[in-house]
Amino acid sequence: MPIVLSLETSCDESAAALVSNEKGKIVVLANEIASQVAEHAKWGGVVPEIASRRHLENLPFLIEEVFSKSTVKISEIDAIASTVTPGLTGSLLVGSITARTIANLYQIPFLGVHHLEGHLASIYLSEKHPKPPFLVLLVSGGHTELIKVDIFHKYHRLGRSHDDAAGEAFDKVARLLGLSYPGGPAIQEIAKSGDPNRFSFPKCRVSNPKGGFYPYDFSFSGLKTSVFRKIETLKLDTKKLPIEDIAASFENVVAEVLVERSLRCVVDQGLNSLVLVGGVAANQRLRRMMLEKASEKSVEIALAPMEFCTDNAAMIGSAALLRLNSGKDISSLELGVAARWPLEQSDLLYDLNPPF
Ligand code: KG4
Ligand code: ZN
Repeated sequence: MPIVLSLETSCDESAAALVSNEKGKIVVLANEIASQVAEHAKWGGVVPEIASRRHLENLPFLIEEVFSKSTVKISEIDAIASTVTPGLTGSLLVGSITARTIANLYQIPFLGVHHLEGHLASIYLSEKHPKPPFLVLLVSGGHTELIKVDIFHKYHRLGRSHDDAAGEAFDKVARLLGLSYPGGPAIQEIAKSGDPNRFSFPKCRVSNPKGGFYPYDFSFSGLKTSVFRKIETLKLDTKKLPIEDIAASFENVVAEVLVERSLRCVVDQGLNSLVLVGGVAANQRLRRMMLEKASEKSVEIALAPMEFCTDNAAMIGSAALLRLNSGKDISSLELGVAARWPLEQSDLLYDLNPPF
């Protein structure tokens, strides 16, 4: 029953968790988050310098908190993990240096975790999760990707966004509508009382220079421009913008695009399971639509638990436990942090000669 202390500081959430593996099941013993959202909201987005300073202030308290809430002692942990890529370099460094210091002090293994592998591993915090092979739709503030998982830790990216990520589109459209940051939850809330069919926004596709379109790729910047133009036109005719209807129509088209392209991909690949993870996976309309449309095609859907969709440390601990279970995956204390690193090469984070 290994116990892992995990830290997440890649963006604007400082988080710590304790997870363990009990009878083949990943159990969250404690999970704490100090959100900086309110502070960054004043600026309309994440300010990197503020984020790293807050991580530095928050982390010692969060670590104390997970031990006091779980009754586990620091001397009882078997390994420590932190996100090392991708993310804001200064923020990643805070978690990684803290983790490596504890690893050194207590002479326990350190695991540097790829943030996207963390999101993928959030599915193992759910009761229902498929065995590979399966397809993952990973939708967050920085990524919109369709990833085929053949066996544990072997990834093959089949689709991606060529411009804005889905979460980024939510954040930008929310700003156009005068809603708060982060945009996803704000749009979801106001869209509840809106008409999703009032406005028809485009389902943008990505052209293949060799002809036709990339079937599993995404583009959201044209959609954002279309919402902007609609707002400008409406402003000429009306004093009060129908922001509920705009929000609902936008949310609906994003959900339709995500659902249609991922179901097409899962069917084309001859798979029958689709996993939904990442911050945007918390969206109720998307979850509902995905379950509904998938049942028509007999595709099994596994949804990350709501509380583990947006950034948290339990998912980082879950990824670390899966690496530990594979036997040989421990990172060098020399492993640093990187703003970007391909998920497909996350095995190298456990190399004796680290890539960064
Ligand atoms: O996974 P996450 O917490 O951080 C990244 O790794 O990026 O995702 C954050 C993104 C933000 O863009 C936020 O607006 C979006 O997820 N988000 C949502 C919802 N909750 C968070 N988007 C749509 N609906 C939601 N309920
Ligand atoms: Zn994330």
